[in-house]
Amino acid sequence: MTPKLKTNYICQNCGYVSPRWTGKCPSCEQWNTLIETIVESKKTKSNRESSVKNVQARIQPLHHVIHTSDGNRTASGIAELDRVLGGGIVQGSVMLIGGDPGIGKSTLMLQIAGNLKNKKLLYVSGEESPSQIKMRADRLGLTLENFLVLPETSLDVVASAIESESPDFVVIDSIQTVYIPELESSPGTISQLRESTALLIKTAKSTNIPVFIVGHITKDGTIAGPKSIEHMVDVVLQFEGERTHFYRVLRGIKNRFGSTNEIGIFEMTEKGLKEVPNPSEVFLSQRNYGASGCVISSAIEGTRPILIEVQALVCTTSYGVPQRTAMGFDYKRLNILIAVIEKKLGIYLNKHDIFLNIAGGVKIDETAVDLAAAMSIYSSYRDIPVDSETVIMGEVGLAGEIRTISSIEKRINEAEKLGFKKIILPKNNIKNLNTKKYKIQIIGVERIKEAASAIIN
Ligand SMILES: Nc1ncnc2c1ncn2[C@@H]1O[C@H](COP(=O)(O)OP(=O)(O)OP(=O)(O)O)[C@@H](O)[C@H]1O
Ligand SMILES: [Mg+2]
Repeated sequence: MTPKLKTNYICQNCGYVSPRWTGKCPSCEQWNTLIETIVESKKTKSNRESSVKNVQARIQPLHHVIHTSDGNRTASGIAELDRVLGGGIVQGSVMLIGGDPGIGKSTLMLQIAGNLKNKKLLYVSGEESPSQIKMRADRLGLTLENFLVLPETSLDVVASAIESESPDFVVIDSIQTVYIPELESSPGTISQLRESTALLIKTAKSTNIPVFIVGHITKDGTIAGPKSIEHMVDVVLQFEGERTHFYRVLRGIKNRFGSTNEIGIFEMTEKGLKEVPNPSEVFLSQRNYGASGCVISSAIEGTRPILIEVQALVCTTSYGVPQRTAMGFDYKRLNILIAVIEKKLGIYLNKHDIFLNIAGGVKIDETAVDLAAAMSIYSSYRDIPVDSETVIMGEVGLAGEIRTISSIEKRINEAEKLGFKKIILPKNNIKNLNTKKYKIQIIGVERIKEAASAIIN
């Protein structure tokens, strides 16, 4: 029998140590800050002496270290996932996939297994019975031959299963259901999450087996969200999207082996997640032709340009203070744009409610969409539609100037590919551009006023 580990409760605010849990920290008087933590047994004197002696052997010059990670990537066969991971799954890495309940995390894991048929996968399921998993696999049309299911929630059993089976991949579905029996806290609490993740990381690193950890994101505080373990794992991916919409976005939040500004786009179908290789077509699939306040713009997500529809609705306010709402767009930037529009276009919006939305549920934090947002507000205010064959892009400065944006050629190519006829962009961007090679009409603008008169006469 394994000896019971000693645990104590440490206040996350002031560091006070208590042998038992209390709701309020006796030292700093904060509520709910005491977290159960395993006490590492103190090293004996001889132990300490030997580590001090060994330290010389452990120090090494960095150029002697052989790095192996790049050659050890395994492509998952799902191109959208591989791109977000930075080229595939790295041996011994621990990846956290977070997302709202029902978004499709388990489906994604099964599909990875379906693609890597010749690899052995150990699927630790704390939520679903093996028959439920089989049902899902059948619905997705997957034949999983090397797929081992372990319906278990106790992590020491899981760790020993990983060591004895030595699979090629491990999936823990989900981290909120597994627990370390030595801890008194119930599964899903912060202390269990942390200690469980630490154990999984240790197992992954010592066996060099990649581990996917599925984590639910919860809005209320009762079950700890996977946020508290983000700093420990190698990769954090977030699965986003509205459950009522079909599109799902896989976003890299943290990646120790690649860039984090890549996104993967999927469509949820009855047969599982389908990759969407051309996202612009998706976001523009339900576009409005000839409606005022709707403008097409271009955003760079990772390395790919995506065309999106920016929608604004400007209407007379019924209350004293006008409403300003931004969906998928930065609220502060919206307020700046409104101020610039008022000053430079000479219209007054203090008696108008303004709603700005990026269609399709995407979030844009790029300033290149500024001009399109400003023009959509202007178009809605004047109630005159913007030509639906025109793409507008550019950053708007406080003086009403249109500032240069990055990756201009990529954006123009994407607009041309999707059959747009005209593109309005910052004049400074044209300087180093060979405009003759494009069929699309390119109009450079220097000031917001010029842009306004170019789209609405
Ligand atoms: N028969 C079906 N046809 C189409 N889509 C389905 C079908 N059954 C389930 N789905 C989709 O799959 C989603 C559930 O997928 P999955 O179980 O992988 O999500 P999850 O994120 O693992 O959820 P949980 O939080 O319960 O673990 C549903 O929300 C639904 O969109
Ligand atoms: Mg699930």
